[in-house]
Amino acid sequence: MSKSDKPAEEPAGSAASAWSGRFSEPVAELVQRYTASVQFDQRMAEQDIRGSLAHARMLARVGVISQDDLADIERGMGEILDEIRGGRFEWRIDLEDVHMNIERRLTEQIGDAGKRLHTGRSRNDQVATDIRLWLRDAIDDALQLLRGFQLALLELADQHVETAMPGFTHLQVAQPVTFGHHLLAYVEMARRDAERLADCRKRLNRLPLGAAALAGTTYPIDRPYVAEQLSFDEVCENSLDAVSDRDFAIEFCAAAAIAMTHLSRLSEELIIWMSPRVGFIDLADRFCTGSSIMPQKKNPDVPELVRGKTGRVNGSLISLLTLMKGQPLAYNKDNQEDKEPLFDAADTLLDTLRIYTDMVSGIRVKPEAMRAALRQGYATATDLADYLVKRGLPFRDAHEAVALAVRTAEQRGCDLADFSLDELRAAMAEVKGAADKLDADVAAALTVEGSLAARNHIGGTAPEQVRAAIGRARARLG
Ligand code: ARG
Repeated sequence: MSKSDKPAEEPAGSAASAWSGRFSEPVAELVQRYTASVQFDQRMAEQDIRGSLAHARMLARVGVISQDDLADIERGMGEILDEIRGGRFEWRIDLEDVHMNIERRLTEQIGDAGKRLHTGRSRNDQVATDIRLWLRDAIDDALQLLRGFQLALLELADQHVETAMPGFTHLQVAQPVTFGHHLLAYVEMARRDAERLADCRKRLNRLPLGAAALAGTTYPIDRPYVAEQLSFDEVCENSLDAVSDRDFAIEFCAAAAIAMTHLSRLSEELIIWMSPRVGFIDLADRFCTGSSIMPQKKNPDVPELVRGKTGRVNGSLISLLTLMKGQPLAYNKDNQEDKEPLFDAADTLLDTLRIYTDMVSGIRVKPEAMRAALRQGYATATDLADYLVKRGLPFRDAHEAVALAVRTAEQRGCDLADFSLDELRAAMAEVKGAADKLDADVAAALTVEGSLAARNHIGGTAPEQVRAAIGRARARLG
């Protein structure tokens, strides 16, 4: 069909699109909406402008555009940035995406210089650059927030270096730990989350621009100069890879999913601890809601939602993996689907970290309830076995002797520490050589404080060690 066969009517939104020259009929409105990304990629507008300015400066430097063109582009982009920030920019769906919206507006404002901006560039390397810039900012925010989260945990841990609570395995009382020690487990998780994100940032921080559509460009471009302008550490080495790679987005979602998994586990603990059956903590009212029917309720909505939202982030990771697995080189329109899962994962992680830091600071600890749970769970049974072993009884015999003592205590409804020396001896009489290992000093081994203090090595729960671990963690965070 010749150009003259073109319908008189332009595609919806009036102006022909940047690529409509070879087409003979307008895109249907639904198709336009279906293929457009401006609804969600407009949030990369600032990154798009940053990338365009660096590209334009490079073009002027190597003499592909004039200094006057560059000056016009810089002025026009400044105005566009103001319009966007002021909410005055008119986003047009017929212009498809953030890139073409901004370019069209630039051309409206400055004329031919605006039309020269796209020389030696394609939306393929442009969008790859924009997402990297956007995600780099998001990672930097996440790293700051992870730091704040760790500091809040450390602050609370510091107040509870000596607060004893039951440590659990299988959700059954296992051995005494300090609440501070328990919190430090989450500091370690957050530390690894930060390491993972920082590691993702390293591979992300390479510049795709210059790859153009897929094969590079015929203009005498200076990629290292653009990289330097945009604070990229290096340039992507292969043009086909540069435009099609989304590993960094997958890596980010993986790191975000793991971080959310940690926050979800902590949420699960907060929910259990706050249940009136357990009552170890109370959350500040601002993180809870009431029930519309049951006046007595105070529900831990925020931790529950964190647990729930972890599913979204896992979903984003799977979306991106699935998005990429069937794509031949190089760019395919499938890639446009990378943004919503990525943005959603980043938004969810960042908001969760923001809210969590404040929530941790507002935790009210109830040491009496923790202590009561310890008394009910025979938490120092292992300490009693260790006591017998240190006096020469083989560990398996000691285990058996203590199990018998626990059975007797259970029958009487008392704690091991409630036994007199004679009662304890009688309770383990069936195990040869056990009872005569017991002396009056066994009482100390059965106390919670004795149990805690005895685990006195790096990584152990002894208050002295917890204090030192808090110091090291704070030093790491600077
Ligand atoms: N909106 C597109 C995206 O998000 C930009 C790149 C389009 N490139 C193309 N060849 N159609 O991926």
